[in-house]
Amino acid sequence: MEQMGVKFILRAILVLGTVLLLVNSEPVEDKQALLDFAQNISHWRPLNWDANSSVCSSWIGVTCDHDNSRVIAVRLPGLGFHGPIPLDTLSRLSALQILSLRSNAISGPFPSDFSNLGNLTALYLQSNNFSGPLPSDFTVWNNLAIINLSNNGFNGSIPSSIGNLTHLTALFLANNSLSGEIPELNLPTLQAIDLSNNDLTGTVPISLQRFPSWAFLGNNLSTESSVPPLVSPSAQPSNKSANLSGSAILGIIIGGSALGFVLLAVLMIVCRSKKDGNEGVVAKPKKKEGPLKKAVSGDQDGNQSLVFFEGCSLAFDLEDLLRASAEVLGKGTFGTTYKAALEDATKVAVKRLKDVNVPRRDFEQQMEVVAKIRHLNVAALRAYYYSKDEKLMVYDYFRQGSLSSMLHAKRSEGRTPLDWETRLRIAIGAARGIAHIHTQKDGKLVHGNIKASNIFLNDEGYGCVSDLGLATLTSPMTQPAMRNTGYRAPEVTDTRKVTQPSDVYSFGVILLELLTGKSPIHALGGDEVVHLVRWVHSVVREEWTAEVFDIELLRYPNIEEEMVEMLQIALACATRMPEQRPKMSDVLRRVEDIRSVNTGNRPSVETRSEGSTPIVTEAGSYSAHK
Ligand SMILES: *[C@@H]1O[C@H](CO)[C@@H](O)[C@H](O)[C@H]1NC(C)=O
Ligand SMILES: *[C@@H]1O[C@H](CO)[C@@H](O)[C@H](O)[C@H]1NC(C)=O
Ligand SMILES: *[C@@H]1O[C@H](CO)[C@@H](O)[C@H](O)[C@H]1NC(C)=O
Ligand SMILES: *[C@@H]1O[C@H](CO)[C@@H](O)[C@H](O)[C@H]1NC(C)=O
Ligand SMILES: *[C@@H]1O[C@H](CO)[C@@H](O)[C@H](O)[C@H]1NC(C)=O
Ligand SMILES: *[C@@H]1O[C@H](CO)[C@@H](O)[C@H](O)[C@H]1NC(C)=O
Ligand SMILES: *[C@@H]1O[C@H](CO)[C@@H](O)[C@H](O)[C@H]1NC(C)=O
Ligand SMILES: *[C@@H]1O[C@H](CO)[C@@H](O)[C@H](O)[C@H]1NC(C)=O
Ligand SMILES: *[C@@H]1O[C@H](CO)[C@@H](O)[C@H](O)[C@H]1NC(C)=O
Ligand SMILES: *[C@@H]1O[C@H](CO)[C@@H](O)[C@H](O)[C@H]1NC(C)=O
Repeated sequence: MEQMGVKFILRAILVLGTVLLLVNSEPVEDKQALLDFAQNISHWRPLNWDANSSVCSSWIGVTCDHDNSRVIAVRLPGLGFHGPIPLDTLSRLSALQILSLRSNAISGPFPSDFSNLGNLTALYLQSNNFSGPLPSDFTVWNNLAIINLSNNGFNGSIPSSIGNLTHLTALFLANNSLSGEIPELNLPTLQAIDLSNNDLTGTVPISLQRFPSWAFLGNNLSTESSVPPLVSPSAQPSNKSANLSGSAILGIIIGGSALGFVLLAVLMIVCRSKKDGNEGVVAKPKKKEGPLKKAVSGDQDGNQSLVFFEGCSLAFDLEDLLRASAEVLGKGTFGTTYKAALEDATKVAVKRLKDVNVPRRDFEQQMEVVAKIRHLNVAALRAYYYSKDEKLMVYDYFRQGSLSSMLHAKRSEGRTPLDWETRLRIAIGAARGIAHIHTQKDGKLVHGNIKASNIFLNDEGYGCVSDLGLATLTSPMTQPAMRNTGYRAPEVTDTRKVTQPSDVYSFGVILLELLTGKSPIHALGGDEVVHLVRWVHSVVREEWTAEVFDIELLRYPNIEEEMVEMLQIALACATRMPEQRPKMSDVLRRVEDIRSVNTGNRPSVETRSEGSTPIVTEAGSYSAHK
């Protein structure tokens, strides 16, 4: 007995000791690496890096991870560092994600041992005096999103391995002495590039012609450049007088026809109950009418390749669609979306899926599941087209644009800010839509791609979610686009491995976006990128809660408590551990109750809608009563 008692006490001491160690822990090896760096490079301005003080809490420019076990960011701009970077110092910070040494006077070559920093997402070395060639193999930094090496003396060519950085969003190499041809950089994620003032020759590759010409000024580039094809190089316009966008759609269709015949006709309708005046009446699917039947009869797959869902009553044939003007609405993880405006003023959104990698049967089954959902807060899938080479989905078009454009577009210009009432309705609507999706397919359906550019305003001014259920259809090789990663739950490493808890995480990020007005991954002061969830956590932890809210919201009185309540819901959703996140049905209840935080009553926004609109309609019985 006594022995057991001693053992217990010993174990208790051990556990206690470990806990104390953890509490006071700091990354000892990373600290030493930083000390070695500071002692082996000269700097004109002082650094407060005292070996006795805590590296994570008191050293300037250093950020640790959540449990202070590693240094993840080093930001030392403008400290007057000069001379070369000492080898085997910073390169020991193997967990480093952000490194900024911009605006110093560092010289010498690009440090060869930086290849150890495989987790870097952002590298800012601009405005120094580096020289020599760029590293030839960029693939060692396959997480890099931002590269800024502007204003240095780098020479040699631009390595083509940059084209393998599938997360890259910004590439700044301006004001160097880079020569040779610009490599083809086929990176859909790339949003900004600046190669100006170098010695580059040749032409701007097709993949980069979407960027403004100033990005290439100050080089010796030949001006003859072909107009980039809107859709794909295989798209051949057949009628010179048709407008470019029409040709693009034609290109899609020709591309989709294995036999080379034009086989596709897309029918559309806008089943806006308001306009029809026959609310609640379910229109029978019109699968075999006139021109459509004719067009499809040539298809060896029969009319299975073109499927319309209930609720459509007007048909458009191929010619109508070809005459429609089309414009690119956006490029997303799963493909490009076009807005097609038909002659009778009907507008539809046509999504062209890429990298679909499932048999026709699975695709069709998933389309049936998605199309069965008729809910005020879920954008209706109207039709789809499947052939070996081409998969199209047709949705209603939302004229106000997505939440992303409402929140972020032209913020500086005289745009009407999105008011708090609207944001609250968007949150409530989106929560209703997602909660409903989670009840489908025996409670197993996952949205899989929740982000602000997939949320719209429905006719009642509530949020409405689009683009669901595609994650499981796409090929596993699909690299997640950087612009979505801010929404993706930390445990999701493969775009197909989405779950309902990961949807809840993404919805939490949407709430944070509504509250802060900031994108999930945004630049802070035009320099370092910030992950919204981490940023909000850091601000809230330091008890500056009020600082997180969007300035545009400050003009509305008496909403602080509601905003704080929404913030709490958001942080609960965006919890790191999936099993700790609430279920979407609980999230919905809390979001709907936000208004009552203030008034103690049922939320007024909700009452308004409940009086007039059914929240949930059964699958297949589309009925929107006004
Ligand atoms: C950096 O400087 C310290 C002390 O001056 C020295 O002990 C260490 O070896 C140096 N490290 C490197 C990598 O040069
Ligand atoms: C800091 O550490 C040194 C030994 O490295 C020690 O001599 C000194 O007293 C410490 N200073 C403080 C303030 O703890
Ligand atoms: C790099 O990031 C991955 C994924 O976040 C993580 O698993 C790994 O531990 C990191 N590497 C280091 C050295 O911290
Ligand atoms: C940059 O480096 C070159 C030598 O590579 C040197 O001549 C020049 O003075 C340096 N400029 C600055 C501002 O340090
Ligand atoms: C790059 O510059 C160095 C001198 O800084 C020179 O020796 C080297 O030949 C240059 N390389 C190219 C490709 O111009
Ligand atoms: C980079 O991509 C190219 C094709 O674009 C491929 O041939 C090459 O092997 C890739 N390099 C690495 C290191 O993955
Ligand atoms: C390049 O240098 C020019 C002239 O010094 C400057 O105006 C421009 O802002 C620089 N470009 C970048 C991207 O820093
Ligand atoms: C620009 O490139 C062409 C060949 O591509 C060359 O003939 C010409 O001399 C170059 N001009 C300058 C200013 O380097
Ligand atoms: C080409 O389009 C024009 C109008 O856009 C039309 O009048 C003409 O008939 C079309 N030609 C063919 C061959 O389709
Ligand atoms: C890159 O550095 C240049 C020059 O300082 C700056 O103008 C530009 O905004 C930077 N871009 C990014 C994405 O950091």
